[in-house]
Amino acid sequence: MISILTHLCQDHVDVLAHLVRLAGDSGTDPGSRPRQVSDLTRLLDEHMHFEEKTLYPLLMLHVDASAMGARASAQHREIDALLASLGRGSGADETWSALVGALTEVMRRHFAEEEAMILPRLRRMMTDGMLRELASRYQAARADVVVGASLAR
Ligand SMILES: [Fe+2]
Ligand SMILES: [Fe+2]
Repeated sequence: MISILTHLCQDHVDVLAHLVRLAGDSGTDPGSRPRQVSDLTRLLDEHMHFEEKTLYPLLMLHVDASAMGARASAQHREIDALLASLGRGSGADETWSALVGALTEVMRRHFAEEEAMILPRLRRMMTDGMLRELASRYQAARADVVVGASLAR
């Protein structure tokens, strides 16, 4: 069964791999930075938007899980701010490295919390049918983003 949780965990792997590439390019190819930041931003925007609009609200329905949802949303804002700083320009190599390092640290912590606490909790709240249905909706939303990006070129 393809579940929404599988898609989200795969995104986490992809994002961390992307961050390793960003760290590796630091100082070697500054010209590729804007494109790489925009690719990462597109992937994360869709991922975080889906979590905030569709999944975290489910946590809010449960008294013992609502704090998890609020904390995860606050981490998303921290991630947004770091992505915006990266997108504003690479600046000096040290600045770039510091920003990529800070974003990597925040992302690792956020993904670890989601995978250890949030996703297992959501799994217990949803039926197999809901998990499959959300997977289809997420794939459709992602396809729109890819088409939109290629039309914009
Ligand atoms: Fe996530
Ligand atoms: Fe998240």
